[in-house]
Amino acid sequence: MAYRILEKEEIAPSVHRMVVDAPDVAKAAKAGQFIILRINELGERIPLTIADFEKEKGTVTVIFQEMGKTTKQLAKLSAGESLEDFVGPLGTPSDIRKLGTIILVGGGIGVAPLYPQAISYTEAGNRVISVIGARNKDLLILEDEMRKASSELYIATDDGSKGHHGFVTDIMKKILDSGEKVVRVVIIGPPIMMKVGAGVASPYDVEILVSLNSIMVDGTGMCGGCRVTVGGKTRFTCVDGPEFDARKVDFIELMNKLAMYRGEEIIAAEKYEEECRCGLH
Ligand code: FES
Repeated sequence: MAYRILEKEEIAPSVHRMVVDAPDVAKAAKAGQFIILRINELGERIPLTIADFEKEKGTVTVIFQEMGKTTKQLAKLSAGESLEDFVGPLGTPSDIRKLGTIILVGGGIGVAPLYPQAISYTEAGNRVISVIGARNKDLLILEDEMRKASSELYIATDDGSKGHHGFVTDIMKKILDSGEKVVRVVIIGPPIMMKVGAGVASPYDVEILVSLNSIMVDGTGMCGGCRVTVGGKTRFTCVDGPEFDARKVDFIELMNKLAMYRGEEIIAAEKYEEECRCGLH
């Protein structure tokens, strides 16, 4: 069965939004879950977090950044074309219920998985304060959507081109210092940002969750590529996560592991680009 791409647009440099016709996935999808796709029969399986879904229309939205070979290949597809596989929803849904005030912190492409969470937390009756950031204003995604889905929205950019000149975690700290009783902080972004964010929030009496979706490989519990140490125990991100208690995650091990595959990823991406230049794709 092929899955038709209904919409496709570049929402920031090298960041793409794709709406896929996948009624079965849309019907069962919940915030925090992911899908596995394959472009064609010989394609690599890649996990992508669900950025939005509409049960009535039967559509699922994913947002991805061109990083390795497969995401570069995916970026070349247009509306009207199809994907070989689009399997899901996978992973444990976020534990969303009425808790009180929640801070959602998203960096870069990490804002994509945060968006359905903002919607669901708000629908569950929480006060949602969202803080989103990127290296610069052009790389900021889903600003309007996040504003609509949240009670308050703050923006930070590393270069100061929009919002606070600095990090999302600076704003998160200010909110935690403001005296407002915050029950939970959810941080999704690059591992270093989640590590720093977890460190900043740790002294406060607040639950801290991070989503480790970026380390998944096949997403099925079979390859072992997503093993993380949480509270001294080995956990599989794709089956046990992707959300974990940030205070218990061994971020150093996580970052070392991500660096381990970087060489192969760069070689595969360069080979693919070379083949594209030679007209092979
Ligand atoms: S991604 Fe392969 S086991 Fe989890």
